[in-house]
Amino acid sequence: MNTSISGFSKLSKSEKIDWIVTTYFTNQEDAKNTLKQYWNSDSKLQQLHDEFIENTITNYYLPFGVAPNFLINGKLHTIPMAIEESSVVAAASKAAKFWLDRGGFKAEVLSTTKIGQVHFMFHGNAETLKQFFDTVKPKLFADAKSITENMEKRGGGILDIELRNKTKDLDGYYQLHATFETLDAMGANFINSCLEQFATTFKREAMLFENFSEAEKQIEIVMSILSNYVPNCIVRAEVSCPVKELSDSKNIDPEAFAQKFVQAVNIAEIEPFRAVTHNKGIMNGIDAVVLATGNDFRAVEAGVHAYASRDGQYRSLTHAKVENGLFTFWMEIPLALGTVGGLTGLHPLVKFAMELLHNPSAKELMEIVAVAGLAQNFAALRSLTTTGIQEGHMKMHLMNILNQFNATDKEKIAIIHHFKTHVVTHRAVVEAIEAIRQ
Ligand code: MEV
Repeated sequence: MNTSISGFSKLSKSEKIDWIVTTYFTNQEDAKNTLKQYWNSDSKLQQLHDEFIENTITNYYLPFGVAPNFLINGKLHTIPMAIEESSVVAAASKAAKFWLDRGGFKAEVLSTTKIGQVHFMFHGNAETLKQFFDTVKPKLFADAKSITENMEKRGGGILDIELRNKTKDLDGYYQLHATFETLDAMGANFINSCLEQFATTFKREAMLFENFSEAEKQIEIVMSILSNYVPNCIVRAEVSCPVKELSDSKNIDPEAFAQKFVQAVNIAEIEPFRAVTHNKGIMNGIDAVVLATGNDFRAVEAGVHAYASRDGQYRSLTHAKVENGLFTFWMEIPLALGTVGGLTGLHPLVKFAMELLHNPSAKELMEIVAVAGLAQNFAALRSLTTTGIQEGHMKMHLMNILNQFNATDKEKIAIIHHFKTHVVTHRAVVEAIEAIRQ
């Protein structure tokens, strides 16, 4: 249906819903009720959610689960995870328990630098531009002082600003490439405000620079924006234990398991089709914690995948080896996270998640999130290289299928019991439901 509307954002919530249901739905009452059943009865809480974004018409729930027993650098954590996919929380919990008995996870933040760029066009003499940049650089810092003052008091701020000549790749294209330390803030607002100030100062001062010709004075600012690629904001997470300790109740031969596990990681290091799925499994853990703690998972996703292809080929983010009888499995990834600002002080569940995690600093949260990713990958590879993932996965999926068919509690108990000894497939579950209902 081709129906446009102007002034939609100015309508009240109920007017917006009225327009939507009359324009797109045949059963308008049903459609309205679907939206309304997710409204929160606490009007203040509802208003808070309404105001997170624009044109809010309801809330979209994701399950908020927890994975206990994560021993990270000697400290025990219960990790909050917001995710819709079954098995992820169970897998994280299993991996946590497995490594709890083998010394836990080690994690370390290697660097915390963030990046932002002013992209601009200049068609004059590159040497004169460099002269201008050297002259104006202190002014760039000075003019941003009102923005950076508080951050500097806490030990952060602008680290450096460089002029980068990109004219080989794009005619007339240069950058102010700036690096920042934003401490416990993700820093998007801080960085973008600094960049926009750099752009204003840069353009204004260019007009006054005597060595520029009249044409050169007309620097064209294209845009000023932080980069979500943060290859110098890196955290490392690791587990290791003697190979012989890798066995567990599944009676897996530890040597054979270690060898197969390393092979699986090696495959993901050289084969992009496998690497994407391998890394997707890592992101199951990472995104879930990033979301639960109110951080921007799209930013994290974009940055992590760029990092996975930093040498020109998309590769595994994790690595594994066996050396002198010791199994080591590790990952280094870029993560720009905040524990202050953004949603962190606003969303009640995010506050809950932060307190659950002992109110971490951004560095501690980087470590926790990286560990969740490593644990997830360990659990996935352990299943894949032993039993296969479908066994566990379909058991978890069973509940989703039962809910799709509105199974009663009694039906659920009977069917779950039945599938303790039968293979779960979608068809088998549907048949079991039909059999019970006849
Ligand atoms: C499913 O969400 C994630 C896995 O496919 C990851 C992997 O294959 O490593 C199980």
